[in-house]
Amino acid sequence: MKSKILVTGGAGYIGSHTCIALHQAGYAIVVYDNLSNSSREAINRVSHLIGTPIEFVKGDIRDAKALRQVFDAHQFFGVIHFAGLKAVGESVAKPLLYYNNNVSGTITLLEVMAEYDVKNLVFSSSATVYGDPETLPIDETAPRSCTNPYGQSKLTVEHILEDLAVSDASWNLIPLRYFNPVGAHPSGQIGEDPNDIPNNLMPYISQVAVGKLEKLSIFGNDYPTVDGTGVRDFIHVTDLAAGHVAALNYLQQQVKVEQSAVGFLPINLGTGTGTSVLELVNAFTDTTGQPVPYQFVARRAGDIASCYASADKAKVLLGWQAKLSVAEMCADTWRWQSMNPNGYK
Ligand code: NAD
Ligand code: WQD
Repeated sequence: MKSKILVTGGAGYIGSHTCIALHQAGYAIVVYDNLSNSSREAINRVSHLIGTPIEFVKGDIRDAKALRQVFDAHQFFGVIHFAGLKAVGESVAKPLLYYNNNVSGTITLLEVMAEYDVKNLVFSSSATVYGDPETLPIDETAPRSCTNPYGQSKLTVEHILEDLAVSDASWNLIPLRYFNPVGAHPSGQIGEDPNDIPNNLMPYISQVAVGKLEKLSIFGNDYPTVDGTGVRDFIHVTDLAAGHVAALNYLQQQVKVEQSAVGFLPINLGTGTGTSVLELVNAFTDTTGQPVPYQFVARRAGDIASCYASADKAKVLLGWQAKLSVAEMCADTWRWQSMNPNGYK
């Protein structure tokens, strides 16, 4: 029988791509999402792409009763937990909302999982938990610290998961620390669909290219980097999706075959290569032929100069590594943006 996975936040950007990868890898899935930052249309399109309807439940992770109904109706091997709010600036303005949604919501989910003895979890963590890194590339043993409520909510959940693993060895908990996810499904049918003016670089670039925004502001050109602009580890969202399948396969192998406990096992998902903001802008234009007018402005508060992963642990433990190039990230972003100038609307 296929293992069944509950995917919280599965209607979102990374979740929708991961649903396709899970289905292709032979997992049965149930998506649970309150659609606070996503659209039912994403689920329709995923269903169309995989050729079978996705089981979707509209619900909130803070609603234990609604979660219990889902756990009553299905026998899950585990949960991939994407559901969360992710805008750094908004989290500074609305910290209670972020702690309530991301931390309390996760506690409620974990409580219900415990009630049903479902103790295998893959959690969406973030490279933001490394703060301003002392050494590069960043490996999973690097010190953690955060300066904004969004990052704190991710770090707090990591601490909760660590405590849970110590309290009871039957929990198997893998926080995946994503670096900078970009790109879209190669079909151009699903992709990142920011509600407002994008906060993140790649959607901003693509909205400038499609003519929705006038010009990109590059935040700082005086960082100690290759060309003065910030350096990040951009990773294609389909590579990221494959990383979740690899993490689940690892959990299945450990739990079902080896019968050994995984405990708390954080793993970076990045390419291991840094690309500067200016390099990304130039790659986008080279790949797509679309000009991206830009201007240099002051640094953005809270930004760091450089951030890229050591991707060794994922390779050794999960047998996973990123395959897609920056050119493919740009080409797929542009296909999605140009085919859907208004996203799912
Ligand atoms: P997204 O906003 O597209 O997806 C998150 C999904 O969770 C949305 O569909 C939203 O409706 C849902 N959701 C939010 N709160 C919920 C709640 N209380 N109950 C049920 N559903 C809820 O974001 P994404 O980019 O796909 O990110 C997925 C996860 O990965 C998030 O936890 C995010 O913090 C984390 N992450 C994202 C990035 C990034 O740059 N995109 C980087 C690192 C980590
Ligand atoms: C990348 C680079 C900017 C926009 C954020 C979150 C992090 C994680 C990923 C969730 C930086 C520059 C950006 C623009 C620019 N999310 N930039 N002009 O800041 O690395 O990470 O998203 O976990 O927590 O903090 O990503 O895409 O915002 O910025 O010059 O309009 O692009 O200064 O150097 P960041 P980003």
